[in-house]
Amino acid sequence: MSLSSQSNVAVGDQPVLAVAMVGHAFMGRAHGNAYRQANRFFDLPMRVVPAVVVGRDQVRAEAAAHKLGFLRATTDLAAVLADPAIHVIDVATPNDSHHAIAMAALAAKKHVLCEKPLAMTLAQAKEMQALAKKQKVRVGLWHNYRRAPAVALAAKMIARGDLGDVRQVRAVYLQDWLSDASVPASWRTNKKTCGSGAHGDLNAHLIDLTRALTGLEFDAVCGMQQTFTKVRPDGAGGTAKVDVDDAFCFLAKFKGGAIGTYEATRTAPGRKNHNCIEISGTAGSLRWNLERMNELEVFSFADAKDGQGFRTVMCMDGVHPYAANWWPDGHIVGYEHTFVHHVVDFVRALHSGEPFAPDFTDGVAVQAVIEAALQSVKSASWVKVMR
Ligand SMILES: NC(=O)c1ccc[n+]([C@@H]2O[C@H](COP(=O)([O-])OP(=O)(O)OC[C@H]3O[C@@H](n4cnc5c(N)ncnc54)[C@H](O)[C@@H]3O)[C@@H](O)[C@H]2O)c1
Repeated sequence: MSLSSQSNVAVGDQPVLAVAMVGHAFMGRAHGNAYRQANRFFDLPMRVVPAVVVGRDQVRAEAAAHKLGFLRATTDLAAVLADPAIHVIDVATPNDSHHAIAMAALAAKKHVLCEKPLAMTLAQAKEMQALAKKQKVRVGLWHNYRRAPAVALAAKMIARGDLGDVRQVRAVYLQDWLSDASVPASWRTNKKTCGSGAHGDLNAHLIDLTRALTGLEFDAVCGMQQTFTKVRPDGAGGTAKVDVDDAFCFLAKFKGGAIGTYEATRTAPGRKNHNCIEISGTAGSLRWNLERMNELEVFSFADAKDGQGFRTVMCMDGVHPYAANWWPDGHIVGYEHTFVHHVVDFVRALHSGEPFAPDFTDGVAVQAVIEAALQSVKSASWVKVMR
């Protein structure tokens, strides 16, 4: 089946939303799976069609399309952008290409789902935000952790006041894959291709989670960073300089008086994907950790004094966000489901005209914090977050 030149194809009585995905490795697999699963588990007003994989090598792109369930593959992005049968461009490539691909897609009036961090610089992010607004298309940024059921529940609890006023955020995103100095350099260790190391990669998620959960806006930040391994094998018998951080910590002041601490590292042995955020308010606290992603630890001063303590809520009962669409109570979900939920909410928002978050305005907000923290390392001082 080909969608080429069928711009308003419908399956049954459902309009089709045809997706072209640029990049087909780690995130390509996660996104591809989400496009395939969304209609199977959720009743959606549109049918998502994984239509085209766009790669740089035809043979590899075809193999990926076959494996990931897309209809076809190409290396010709321009032709895809000119095809009225394609509605969404998914940017699942390294950071240095987000701006160019997204800007071209927006110019072609396609909806865009872009991987994080949105761009290499705040200036680029603002251009993307402005063009998306001008073209009146819908955009999303793949901060998928917002859509873990436990995180969505945490956001609901904070919004209804369960924690009282939020005072402190402590967030860490810890990995260990660069602990070993013999791990080769890659686009993730080169400033030209990634912008920054653990900071833009992992702190970006923590910054987004903070904003999504608390509604707090960053006011000023003060950071420090370290590159423990400054030269790595280049994978071709030589060596490559590492010019981004292995570890990056920063302090944050929020508008309104709350404070936060952030740590992202790729050199914490034993920590594989420890994305953990704890939020303390005047009336209670909560803590979420990706490695136990269906659980939410909650403490409330409202509990009977002699029964107080952190309790663990298993967030996969039918009453919890997204849960009823999967399995019976307590039958847990995983990492990949966060991407499915992202697609589900994007399709619903697209169809209804309701807002979708995170969008490129959120991307600009995250990028502003990333950039201010990088500047604060350079100046060894607190830097105001400006956007
Ligand atoms: N949301 C998340 O949790 C999450 C997790 C991992 C990565 N990411 C982000 O996703 C993006 C991709 O990361 P990844 O881990 O999938 O990387 P990857 O190296 O596994 O895959 C990158 C893909 O992009 C292709 N590619 C590279 N440059 C290209 C170009 N100019 N045009 C077309 N294709 C190109 C590569 O061939 C490959 O298929 C990054 O921005 C990264 O920060 C997000």
